[in-house]
Amino acid sequence: MLELADKINKLKKEKKAIILAHCYQNPEIDLVADYVGDSLGLSRLASKTDAEIIIFAGVYFMAETAKILSPDKKVLLPNKNSGCNMADMINLKQVKEFKAKNPDIPLVCYVNSTAEVKAECDICCTSANAINIVKSLNAKKVLFAPDCYLGSFVQKNLPDVEVISYPGFCPTHLRIIPDEIVKMKILYKDAKILVHPECHQEVVKLADFVGSTTQIMQYCESTKHKTYIIATEKGVVDRLKRDFPEKEFILASSKLVCHNMKWNTLEDILNSLIHNQFEVTVEEEIRKKALTSIQRMIEVK
Ligand code: 13P
Ligand code: SF4
Repeated sequence: MLELADKINKLKKEKKAIILAHCYQNPEIDLVADYVGDSLGLSRLASKTDAEIIIFAGVYFMAETAKILSPDKKVLLPNKNSGCNMADMINLKQVKEFKAKNPDIPLVCYVNSTAEVKAECDICCTSANAINIVKSLNAKKVLFAPDCYLGSFVQKNLPDVEVISYPGFCPTHLRIIPDEIVKMKILYKDAKILVHPECHQEVVKLADFVGSTTQIMQYCESTKHKTYIIATEKGVVDRLKRDFPEKEFILASSKLVCHNMKWNTLEDILNSLIHNQFEVTVEEEIRKKALTSIQRMIEVK
């Protein structure tokens, strides 16, 4: 494995490539990654580097977001099977129907969506800033897509706004049920429970802290508790264990694995570098509109 990583690290320099790894990837991908992080953070980093090639070890919508922000760079997804079930739950026709059924209401769209869906919305959001983004619209009603659980989380925090959610969801985060958390609380009495807002509201209710992947990792870094129970994808726990060996991190359920995220291997990354595969492209008109939605989000304080 180390030999393969060496080969990749040499070749990426020769080809002026940068490798970005989402924190849900298999941990060995970090051996070749220039940056490890969350989806939007990585895409924003990519747009600031002078690399000519961006290899995005993540899922398709993430590589597409990098392309939206960096149209002049070649963006490659190492394994073309890496899709996202949630992003695939809403296509162009469905987003248009959702808007037509609820006319004159602004549409907020989670970055976990395709470029053509982003292009149809008024503003994007992440799981870290969804509440602020909805608040910034000063609207009585807001459409929210694709994740109805993140939508419910926003609704709970902003009772004066009516949040009308599209019925999409993340199958990974939905796998954990409240009973598993309750049992964990009995087993680890002093542990803090950290939950991603893509989980079911009944799971979110049991949390000591609710946040995006990055916010969960920052919480673990900045607090002094001994034990943390983590209800988000397994990759986050893998990295927390490695980075903070003095603390204890427990995955709230062994079912919290996003298989879409685990397709990319070091071999795929090497092939991606050698053969320039698999290139992600976005039609220019769609790209510009999607970019506007992302930029509006970035401008919100
Ligand atoms: P981030 O936006 O935190 O990278 O999360 C991506 C994701 O797929 C969550 O399920
Ligand atoms: Fe998509 Fe869920 Fe996997 Fe994230 S964890 S990439 S939202 S399927």
